[in-house]
Amino acid sequence: MNILIVDDEEVLQDVLTNLVRKEGWNPLNAKTGEDALDTLRRDEVELVLLDLMLPTMSGMELLKLLRQRYPDIVVVIITAYSSIEGAIEAMREGAFHYIPKPFKNEEVLITIRKGLEQRRLARENQSLREQLRQRYAFDNLIGRSKAMQKVFDLIRLAAPSKSNILILGESGTGKELVAKAIHHHSRRADGPFVIVNSGSMPHDLLESNLFGHVKGSFTGAVSNKKGLFEVASGGSIFFDEIGNIPLETQSKLLRVIQEKEFMRLGGVETIKVEVRIIAATNADLEALVQDNAFREDLYYRLNVITIQLPPLRDRAEDLALLARHFLLQYAKENDKELREISSRAMELLMDYRWPGNVRELENVIERAVVLSTSEILDEDLLPPAVREPRSFAMPPTSVDSTNGLPFKEAVAAYERQLISRALKAAGGVQKRAAEMLKIKPTTLHEMMKRLNVSAETIQA
Ligand SMILES: Nc1ncnc2c1ncn2[C@@H]1O[C@H](COP(=O)(O)OP(=O)(O)OP(=O)(O)O)[C@@H](O)[C@H]1O
Ligand SMILES: [Mg+2]
Repeated sequence: MNILIVDDEEVLQDVLTNLVRKEGWNPLNAKTGEDALDTLRRDEVELVLLDLMLPTMSGMELLKLLRQRYPDIVVVIITAYSSIEGAIEAMREGAFHYIPKPFKNEEVLITIRKGLEQRRLARENQSLREQLRQRYAFDNLIGRSKAMQKVFDLIRLAAPSKSNILILGESGTGKELVAKAIHHHSRRADGPFVIVNSGSMPHDLLESNLFGHVKGSFTGAVSNKKGLFEVASGGSIFFDEIGNIPLETQSKLLRVIQEKEFMRLGGVETIKVEVRIIAATNADLEALVQDNAFREDLYYRLNVITIQLPPLRDRAEDLALLARHFLLQYAKENDKELREISSRAMELLMDYRWPGNVRELENVIERAVVLSTSEILDEDLLPPAVREPRSFAMPPTSVDSTNGLPFKEAVAAYERQLISRALKAAGGVQKRAAEMLKIKPTTLHEMMKRLNVSAETIQA
């Protein structure tokens, strides 16, 4: 148990050193704040006995540095009666206790014992928190909500099977993380995990990517090329945004699932594949099936096991856990001392709707960490959209506000208002505004053109 005594008076150093040693603790000595910091860099210290009256760096300055750099260390102030105001200020700065001079030995010992006990309890709490975190994590996924615990159970059960899996969830809810977790817990964990960004690729390019092609099968096919299915053989293939796959490609995909074989584009050989298909989408696949935009038979083939990821706004229990997790992660990456989120900031995080879900939360926390200069993440570091959620979420409206406009114009005015608010809240970033409104960026762009709204006029 190291106890650091910071005092420039020799007599006091001696008295305290003997006292500490007699109790079986190990005294370390420093005459100045600078000395003390040197010692702390070398040795693990549990408690500091600190005289406020020091030459050069003042005791108060040292206390503030200690609180920032070594928040776990208990600081006990020793000070003359004449500077009791200083002691009170020190308590406000986070000192554990103060002892006025002249002191009784017993008083010092009792205070040290109490301080060490408090430190022990704080440590226990911390390790408890760490254990909780372990329990609430699965691979890289974090979540303590019932819904997420159910997701973890499903992954555990479904991963070792051969079944195809469909992951549903809004943008940023962790679909890709779940796909990876499934792969890691499957019998193919040692095999490849291949991601297909089905996105908005034209179908012939997508197919050449998936199935490969032979030399000369089309202009530009200058050599034979393996497709992603071959690359993924023995592992898992993850179709991100499966809802965007064109119908032509859907039927080829269905054939691979049924026959477990395919041909390269322009090829004559059939190639056997053994892959597990994991697909994800934030679209309503059933609705796409209804509209004949997605093949029903493919839908059933993919949807053997469904994992539904709930939106972040429906799992408040996870929000605090995730926010803290990202805070610690980005503080470490950026070498910041941040370790806390102020209660006001946490309230705002809880109130916000998180249209971009966990990804958006992660971005918000990362931004705050980068901008921060203190050890507490406070509300002023949160972006406007999070700080003023209500002004965005509920544009005032009433039948009167049509002001006698014809219906269509009133609707257009309302749309204009919604879009302007979203753009403002998103700091003029259209992609973000679209996320908030839950429309595609291209749709937002079209609407802005139609309604004659420009990002510049909003910014001004
Ligand atoms: N439960 C979680 N625990 C920890 N991090 C998470 C969790 N869910 C999502 N994330 C993080 O949020 C980000 C988005 O996750 P991911 O890419 O898996 O979402 P997605 O559903 O695939 O999004 P999109 O639909 O936009 O493709 C990633 O940085 C991921 O690490
Ligand atoms: Mg994704």
